Amino acid sequence: MVQYSNLKYAIKDHIGYVIINREPQLNALNQETLDELQDIFKHFNSDDHVRGIILTGAGHKAFAAGADIKEFMDLSVIQARWLSERGHIIFTDLIEASPKPVIAAINGYALGGGLEMALACHIRIASENAKMGLPEVSLGLIPGYGGTQRLPKLIGKGQAMQMILTGDMIDAQRAYELGLVNEVIAQDKLIARAEEILQKIFTRSRVAVANAIAAINAAEDKEQNGNKVEMDAFGHLFGTEDFKEGVSAFLAKRTPNFE
Ligand code: CAA
Repeated sequence: MVQYSNLKYAIKDHIGYVIINREPQLNALNQETLDELQDIFKHFNSDDHVRGIILTGAGHKAFAAGADIKEFMDLSVIQARWLSERGHIIFTDLIEASPKPVIAAINGYALGGGLEMALACHIRIASENAKMGLPEVSLGLIPGYGGTQRLPKLIGKGQAMQMILTGDMIDAQRAYELGLVNEVIAQDKLIARAEEILQKIFTRSRVAVANAIAAINAAEDKEQNGNKVEMDAFGHLFGTEDFKEGVSAFLAKRTPNFE
């Protein structure tokens, strides 16, 4: 494990691990953690050895309990606006738009900015003890790292309204019922399950996976025509070696050997 001040990372079996490492503060995201997240995601997104990423929190209690509230008191209106924009940029451009599958392994509290970080990931799985919520209205705020935009798309406007307006936390089982997480797993098996999902994805075509992520993201991007992105990507993939290998393998009744 390589250590930044607020997070740890490692690469093993083509998986990049990012672990928010502020356990005494329940992995709250201070501004320095945002800087380090930006740095490590830039690195993993461009490192060919990394084919997928697992994002989690240190310890057994929290994934991330939100933005660091202790840093809030001194922020001006302009600084707070910029903090929100920075969170949006990092979560959207580096996590959501990563060409590599990013799994949030939610191992405890995922609140406020912590849940918003998980919402930017491509896949979310949670441990049985996980609790999720957007409690910002109880601080006189609203979610600032994309929660008002991503949560309604994931669980529907009505359920998202209720979660955001009450600020209530929900448990892992309720999050599963709402479609907020894909699976609920015993805590000691959470990372192994995330690894298993990624290893399955790694047997598929890397270029196809990257194009699938881009096309799915385009569906929610008002500045893009998702149908066009899908059509362009579909055509583009016909020109790749992976396509030739995938179809040849199917016709020869063998397992494809991509790259
Ligand atoms: N920011 C800063 N410190 C935090 C924190 C946060 N978001 N969440 C927890 N901590 C700190 C606590 O202050 C405490 O530190 P000290 O020991 O120095 O006092 C330590 O972590 C342990 O926390 P608790 O003693 O509160 O632990 P608990 O088990 O009693 O409660 C909890 C756990 C319910 C998660 C509670 O800590 C909590 O409510 N945290 C705040 C959650 C929150 O409001 N998140 C939203 C932040 S705002 C935001 O994220 C804005 C945005 O959209 C970008």
